[in-house]
Amino acid sequence: MRWLLTVVCLSVFVVPTYAEDPIEASVAKLGLSKEQLLKIGEDVYNTDGENTCLKCHGKGGTGGDQAGAADLRHPRTWRVYQALGGDDAFKANKEKFIKDIDAVVHDLIRNGATSWNLKFPKEHKEIAMDWGKVTVPDKVDKYNQMMKGITSDPMVKKVKELQEQFEKEGKKLTIQHIRDVAAVSDFMYVKTLDDGSAKGGVFK
Ligand code: HEC
Repeated sequence: MRWLLTVVCLSVFVVPTYAEDPIEASVAKLGLSKEQLLKIGEDVYNTDGENTCLKCHGKGGTGGDQAGAADLRHPRTWRVYQALGGDDAFKANKEKFIKDIDAVVHDLIRNGATSWNLKFPKEHKEIAMDWGKVTVPDKVDKYNQMMKGITSDPMVKKVKELQEQFEKEGKKLTIQHIRDVAAVSDFMYVKTLDDGSAKGGVFK
């Protein structure tokens, strides 16, 4: 029996615990409340300058100045929604569907489309995306690389400010960790922009 116990114990260390959404998992460790995260997210989203969420997508998620930027009030029009199977998949299992959206979009916001296109599909084979189902014009098999997320200069500056803010509160976090916080909180805020119309109603 002892050998069996040893094998069981060892396997706990050897088998990696696989996280579908490592960015979410990294933020969960901090134990911040939803209210705290939403406040950070609103601040991150509304960063001033060129190539920011606000500039490209607009106040409240619409009317920004980047051609082809998704309307953030209308998640049913997003590439991720359609590639994951659209309304049918959403109805079939809302919880799993939204978990998959989270994993995809957290990475997209954190790392930008250029990095996402290169790495995400390879690293997350457990998330089945069918780009054939996407009706958003052009770049049908990948994201438009103008979706820069938090990688542009003003966004990088904002992330640094966030790090300083945490440090003042006695929490020393690495920039990589803060980038996770920025991505997760920002997307949490973006979900509140869903207008509940026929093109929305995914997060509300
Ligand atoms: C330089 C302009 C630009 C910036 C900065 C930018 N975006 Fe985008 N975003 C885009 C474009 C363009 C798309 C459409 C991508 C596509 O359809 O391939 C997009 C798509 C999205 C989507 C929908 C994803 C999908 O599956 O269709 C979300 C959500 C999003 N952006 C959130 C954000 C947030 C939050 C920020 C700030 C951290 C941000 N974006 C910064 C241009 C930008």
